[in-house]
Amino acid sequence: MRYRFRMHDPELTIRSAQVEDAPALAQAERAIAETPGLLVSQPHELVHERFAQKIAALAHADNGRYLVAEAEGRIVGHGLLDPLALAAVRHVVHLTLVAHPGWQGRGVGGALLGSLIAWAKSAPAVEKIELHVRSSNARAQALYRKFGFTEMGRWRRRVKVAPGQYLDDVAMELFVS
Ligand SMILES: CC(C)(COP(=O)(O)OP(=O)(O)OC[C@H]1O[C@@H](n2cnc3c(N)ncnc32)[C@H](O)[C@@H]1OP(=O)(O)O)[C@@H](O)C(=O)NCCC(=O)NCCS
Repeated sequence: MRYRFRMHDPELTIRSAQVEDAPALAQAERAIAETPGLLVSQPHELVHERFAQKIAALAHADNGRYLVAEAEGRIVGHGLLDPLALAAVRHVVHLTLVAHPGWQGRGVGGALLGSLIAWAKSAPAVEKIELHVRSSNARAQALYRKFGFTEMGRWRRRVKVAPGQYLDDVAMELFVS
């Protein structure tokens, strides 16, 4: 699917993630994780084998989806809806969204999120999207609100970014059924 989110944004192609994409996705998250307060993972925790396993697991799932955005011939962002494992909560998916370094604030996150929500609305097995976002991440929260997510509450002092230094984690949700 080709996609241009706003008039001056780059033309993006949104497609399903392939296992071969895993190293590029892991590398991008490691670079972002060098800045505390965006992702919860630390760089050494972001190994490409786990990305490959998740992509493979969601490739044929009826209740999960893994997408990448491409521009100028390379991957510039990725996002996934990861279903919760237990039977009673398998209609709930957890959102992860990443615009790669150099491509943030250019519509990549919005394009991926729009595509993921559209897919979720068309997937009978998915009823609700949940996410966690650090309280300091104003851009991400603004984007989620724009797409209809509402804040459910906050886990205080949940993410330890340095000894004695914590961030609150904000819980948000969107019903899609
Ligand atoms: C958060 C993230 C996914 C958003 O994707 P993006 O491609 O940068 O976002 P977009 O350009 O599509 O849209 C951002 C929106 O927020 C707005 N925005 C940007 N900074 C803002 C701020 N400080 N306060 C309020 N709104 C802000 C923009 O104006 C834009 O809205 P618009 O489309 O109405 O103009 C991306 O920045 C990212 O990957 N950041 C690092 C990793 C991360 O934080 N991931 C989320 C973890 S929960």
